[in-house]
Amino acid sequence: MGHFITLEGSEGSGKSTQFRLLQTYLASRGVRVLATREPGGTSIGEQIRAVLHDVGNDALRPRAEVLLYAAARAQLVEQVIRPALAAGTVVICDRYVESTLAYQGYGRGLDLAALLEITRFATGGLRADQVIYLDLPVEVGLERKRLAHEREHAEITRMDQQALEFYRRVRAGYLALAAQEPERWCVLDAQQSIEAVQAQIRQCVAALLASGGDVRS
Ligand code: TMP
Repeated sequence: MGHFITLEGSEGSGKSTQFRLLQTYLASRGVRVLATREPGGTSIGEQIRAVLHDVGNDALRPRAEVLLYAAARAQLVEQVIRPALAAGTVVICDRYVESTLAYQGYGRGLDLAALLEITRFATGGLRADQVIYLDLPVEVGLERKRLAHEREHAEITRMDQQALEFYRRVRAGYLALAAQEPERWCVLDAQQSIEAVQAQIRQCVAALLASGGDVRS
């Protein structure tokens, strides 16, 4: 059974960059790695992602939103993640269940117990072995994101248009979740340099994989 590692982060945390660097690093060390993302990662999931990100869908209700995330996740787990883990592949996923708890639970205020039930149904109970969370103050992250949008003319999605308070609750939620399971979470300060954050991510991952002997140092 392969290891399952997820990367979480607030807006502007540099998660995508760190994710790519981690993927390249693991592959360069001879680790068989599968990289995927949420929402998406399958053809059906990417179609659901388009609905979730469409700024025209501002009428989307929180309960419908969470079920769409769950539907994309169910598809990804069954079609991609479980087969890869069964083949001994290390799976790294850009966002997973903890995003739902942070954004729809703490952010939108949906009942956490209900969300746990829904995510358990969607995933068949599959949890990440290690959750890496890139943390930074909300204002810093949103400013970084705004600059990146200006520079790269990146698409603005529906989830980019929430109020400041929403993102504050999301961050507080992540930190509360991490505090409940410190051994499964690795919380890193995303205000450090890209290199420093990546070095700490590699340390976290190496500690996990060392037991399976997957990373040769
Ligand atoms: P990203 O592609 O930049 O990571 O953005 C994905 C957005 O989707 C981000 O704002 C968080 C949000 N999201 C949720 O609200 N709930 C979820 O379960 C997942 C996977 C993502």
